[in-house]
Amino acid sequence: MRHLRLLTAGESHGPALVGIVEGMPSGMVLDVERIDRELRRRQRGHGRGGRMKIERDRVELLAGLKQGVTLGSPVAFLVNNKDDVIDRLPVPGDPRPGHADLAGCQKHGHRDPRAVLERASARETAARVAAGGIARQLLEALGVELFAHTVAVGGVEARPDAFEAAGEEREARREASDLLCLDPQADAGMRAAVDAAKAAGDTLGGVFEVVALGLPPGLGGYAAWDERLTGRLAGALMSIPAMKGLEFGLGFEAARRPGSQVHDPIDRAPEGAPWGRFQRRSNRAGGLEGGMTTGEPLVVRVAMKPIPTLRQGLDSVDFASGERVHATWQRSDVTSVPAAGVVGEAMVALVLVDHFLRWRAQCPITAMTRRPSY
Ligand SMILES: Cc1cc2nc3c(=O)[nH]c(=O)nc-3n(C[C@H](O)[C@H](O)[C@H](O)COP(=O)(O)O)c2cc1C
Repeated sequence: MRHLRLLTAGESHGPALVGIVEGMPSGMVLDVERIDRELRRRQRGHGRGGRMKIERDRVELLAGLKQGVTLGSPVAFLVNNKDDVIDRLPVPGDPRPGHADLAGCQKHGHRDPRAVLERASARETAARVAAGGIARQLLEALGVELFAHTVAVGGVEARPDAFEAAGEEREARREASDLLCLDPQADAGMRAAVDAAKAAGDTLGGVFEVVALGLPPGLGGYAAWDERLTGRLAGALMSIPAMKGLEFGLGFEAARRPGSQVHDPIDRAPEGAPWGRFQRRSNRAGGLEGGMTTGEPLVVRVAMKPIPTLRQGLDSVDFASGERVHATWQRSDVTSVPAAGVVGEAMVALVLVDHFLRWRAQCPITAMTRRPSY
């Protein structure tokens, strides 16, 4: 059973995206501006297309609160679409390669790719970011800091230790970069790569990294396959459209090294360390062992494929005539890696909150039988 659930609905060019987050505890003061800030961050980024100039995403909270405080009932929200033109848009004749269009039409027997693409569109991720904006406020109250940064775009890579190297400047440096990159040199290279791809009518993919600091040891579980945090995070992150690979800590590099250069030795922690007497000497595991957090930073990297809608076009086949055609081009991003990183933060926030709630449910029985204080 899941302790936090998210359901979203809404088409890309319909009136709105809506969502319900069920499971948030009562008594939380929700900051709407904080949620809107996340929505704005999802819309930013060098290489975004025309749609982001039209939309000004803001969340409207519809249920689950009284005077801004959560009631413990489902929190319902809405994000309006300014580009609400679904009934006026033409029917595309051909399914676009790299999208859900063809398999979705084959599944449902549609001949109108729009019947599929309107919902398959990554516009839906705005609802996930709004829900993540709610969930992360609980994480912040629990002392957890969560951020994503771009580590590669179009083959240009940030230095591997970009987040440690940025130190106290991290937040300022990340927000100053519209690619969310912490390495200024790589940032310039990524921008140039995006500009070149745009000029060529092409698109780029890349890699973002999500980091969570301040997580206690033991979040997640080793006892059942579906409580292993490793799998829950991977599933949530890979559910973001266009994600094609994922690694925790050393990731695929761990498969190349001998064990002595992979596992993190356990050591005595200094006096006053946050999680008691033990700590790891390194964090090559990326903060997860046995399906649980170790108390070290959680570090997960996700690879995004290049945007499949290319201005230079790709071959497809016309539904009616069966003739070969060049796929329809609609305004589209050149790269969305920074935006995907913001969606990645939201997905990690939702999974972590689910596991914090699960953790509370797994507390020793003494904690459950304690009488309330009134
Ligand atoms: C934040 C974000 C923005 C995206 N923007 C676009 C876009 O502008 N144009 C496009 O063709 N695909 C875009 N995509 C990718 C497609 O939604 C995705 O590739 C497509 O739905 C097919 O899903 P799949 O790649 O998981 O198979 C975006 C993805 C994300 C996460």
